[in-house]
Order: sequence, then C-alpha cells, then structure tokens
Amino acid sequence: MKITMIGTGYVGLVSGACFSDFGHDVICVDKDADKVTGLERGEMPIYEPGLKNLVARNVEAKRLSFTTDLAAGVADADAIFIAVGTPSRRGDGHADLSYVYAAAGEIADNLSKSAVVVNKSTVPVGTGGEVERIMREHAPDLDIAVVSNPEFLREGAAIGDFKRPDRIVIGTDDEKARDVMREIYRPLYLNESPLLFTGRRTAELIKYAANAFLATKISFINEIADLCEKVGADVQDVSRGIGLDNRIGAKFLHAGPGYGGSCFPKDTLALMKTAQDYDSPVRIVESVVQVNDTRKRAMGRKVIDAMGGEVRGKKVAVLGLTFKPNTDDMRDAPSIAIVQALQDAGANVSAYDPEGMVEAAHIMEDVHMANDAYAAAEGADALVIVTEWDTFRALDMRRIAGQMNAKTLVDLRNIYQPDDMQKLGFDYFSIGR
Ligand code: UGA
Repeated sequence: MKITMIGTGYVGLVSGACFSDFGHDVICVDKDADKVTGLERGEMPIYEPGLKNLVARNVEAKRLSFTTDLAAGVADADAIFIAVGTPSRRGDGHADLSYVYAAAGEIADNLSKSAVVVNKSTVPVGTGGEVERIMREHAPDLDIAVVSNPEFLREGAAIGDFKRPDRIVIGTDDEKARDVMREIYRPLYLNESPLLFTGRRTAELIKYAANAFLATKISFINEIADLCEKVGADVQDVSRGIGLDNRIGAKFLHAGPGYGGSCFPKDTLALMKTAQDYDSPVRIVESVVQVNDTRKRAMGRKVIDAMGGEVRGKKVAVLGLTFKPNTDDMRDAPSIAIVQALQDAGANVSAYDPEGMVEAAHIMEDVHMANDAYAAAEGADALVIVTEWDTFRALDMRRIAGQMNAKTLVDLRNIYQPDDMQKLGFDYFSIGR
C-alpha cells in the first residue's frame, strides 16, 4: 500500500515509521523544511525510545521518505492520513481544527484520483463530516472517503503501542474504505489485534471517551490518595486491592502529582466543550479536570509544608521535569506548577531531568539545570521527585542524604519505601501513604 502521512509530529512520525516497518511505502509530508531536512539526516524532532532506529531502518530500505511537497506526496497514495496538531484553542478550550481543515483542502486540491483520507488527529465529533464537505468542495469530481482512525499511543511507549495495540478503531460506513483500512492494518490483524469497525462519529467519540476515562481513573485514585493520608491508609494497597477486580483493572491507578501531557488536559477540555455545545454536559469529566488542576498547584504547597512552611532562601532540588518518563515533552507537566509555587514562596530551585531540560529551560525561569541527580541535590534543603524516570529509582540515597543541607524528601511518585528512607535519616513524604 502507498501511504501518505500529513504531519510529522508525534503521531504522524510514529505511525508513518511503523506502517513502513510493516512493509508499506510511506511518504511523510511536513511544511517545516528544517524538520524534513533533519529527518532525512536521521535527526528526530522528538525523543521517543526506538524511533531513531526504526526510521533509519525503513529509510535505508527505501520504504520511508520525507518531503515538504504535499502535491507530490499525495499524487499516488492509496490512503492519506491527516496527523496534524489539534491544540486547545486559546481562550475557550475547543480543539483548534484549522490545521486539519487546511490539510483537507490542500490534499483535495492535489489529488488526481479517488482516495481514502484518514483522520488520525484527535478531533471532536463531526469533524470527519466537515473534512468530507471541504474535500468535496475542492475536488467535486473525485470519490473521496473520509475515515476516522484515532490513535491510542502513549508517549515513551508509542512504538510498542502501535505494533501491539489493544484495538484498532476504524470509523466509516464506506465499504471500499473499510477494505483499504483492513489491508493497511493486515499485519496487526494477523497478530490478532481486534479491528473495531464503527460509524465515523462513534470512532471520533471513542478517542475522547477513552482519554477522559483514563484521566478519570487518575483523578479518582489521586483523591483516594488524599483520603488515605487523612485516615492512615496506604493508596498503593488500595490500588492493588481494587485493581485486581477485573471490572476495574489495575492500570492507571498510580496516584501522583496529577496528569499532564499533550493529550489528557487538552482532550478532557475538548470533550467538555463538545458536551456543552450539545447540551449534554459531562459532569464527571468536568470534576476530573478541576481535581487535576487543583492538584498540581497543591503539590507545591505539599512540598512547602514538608519543609516546615517556610522556604524563602532555601534550596529545593527537583528530580524529573517532563510530564512522564521517556519523553522530552513538557506540555502541562505538573513540574511547571510545582516549581512556580516554590519560586513564588521564595525558594531557589535546581533540577535535573534526563531528557526534558532543554525544553524546560524555555518554560521555567531561574531554575538551575544540574548535570545529574546528585549535582541537583548538593546542598539542597529538600529533594522532590516529580517524574519517575528509571534512573531515579535506584539512586544512591545514602550519598544524596550526605550531600543535602536538610534531609527532606518528597516523593510524588512513591518510588521509594518509607521505612528505607526513614532509616537513612530522611524526613520522607509521599503520596497517599
Ligand atoms: C495518553 C493515553 O494513554 C494514550 O492512549 C493516548 O493515545 C494519548 O494520551 C493521546 O491521546 O495521544 P500519554 O499522554 O502519552 O498517552 O501518557 P500517559 O501514559 O497516558 O500518561 C498521561 C499522564 O497521566 C502522565 O502525566 C502520567 O504521569 C499520568 N498518570 C498515568 C498517572 O498520574 N497515573 C497513572 O496511573 C497513569
């Protein structure tokens, strides 16, 4: 199959590379010439484990190429995927669809034969219909089927998620388009990944409902964690105790500083807006968003309280800045609100993150970026673990204790054991224990 991917952001690049690895011919189109030149040289615009090798292998095999030339990219394609950004629109939280619509018009202007256009960008219900209308307006003589095929990739685990998905959702009523999609995903189907065919609007809603549900699990367990602290229970045992019930499931029940990233915050807001527009409010999701926003700010206060309520002039070392491990993505990371709260209270902040410091330096002011966890902790009055990178799980905590000015440890990901840390002399605070 000849596949064209419009947009080489997170979703477009990972999907394009994986499709080429299945043996399809893939062209990835992006307007950003620097990005395309970089990709041709093997430079990845994002940090994602395994991506560099995957791209290199398929470029070498001539199954994967990059271009800025959309016309050439779409000319010969069996399927054209739209994988451009849908950021939250400034001011109202609605998904900004201008990039999706612009891509649709441009694709239609450059098509010379009938094709299947697949929307992979996360878009509100009804967007597929609008894309179809735009395409018909631009290319009235062509038979273009517009399919919704949402992605369920987690940053940091995206290649595994693409190649071993829990399910593939394909939204279209067009039989020919279904056949094309079946052929594209055949390698996964052979591996027994379920292909779920639905209507287009249903597929669009599945994406938002999935992310909103996962966000709900997180806010739920975070509130239970707060309650655990008050009543003297252990949230990790509660998670295990409820997660072993198959109806609940063990995943996404890790209490922490709140969810961040480019998906949950944006998609929950967009779902709320759609629901309000249709006069069918999603009150649970509204609460989830509110709980999460409040939580990120509260984590800064938690650190300040752990330090005795006064942090002016004190040094706080922060380990982990990205919204989760194995990414350099800082979007809506809890670290941003936490560092801000500490600085507002007069603390000096040093930080270390294996991949996120370059991006963080654009967002945070006056944070000393250290070379490693030990350098960050040197002379600190408190150490705060915000992101659970593997390299933080087995630090030489005795050495760190020896380096610090005061031994306050706030572990917002529960990666250390309270007893162990107390034995080392730490005043240890964690989440829900
Ligand atoms: C999320 C979904 O998991 C993907 O299925 C989806 O495709 C993607 O959004 C998207 O819409 O593109 P992602 O944002 O990369 O993926 O990361 P997650 O692993 O879901 O983590 C999101 C946030 O939730 C992180 O801040 C993480 O620390 C937090 N989290 C996650 C918890 O606090 N507790 C948990 O138990 C799980």
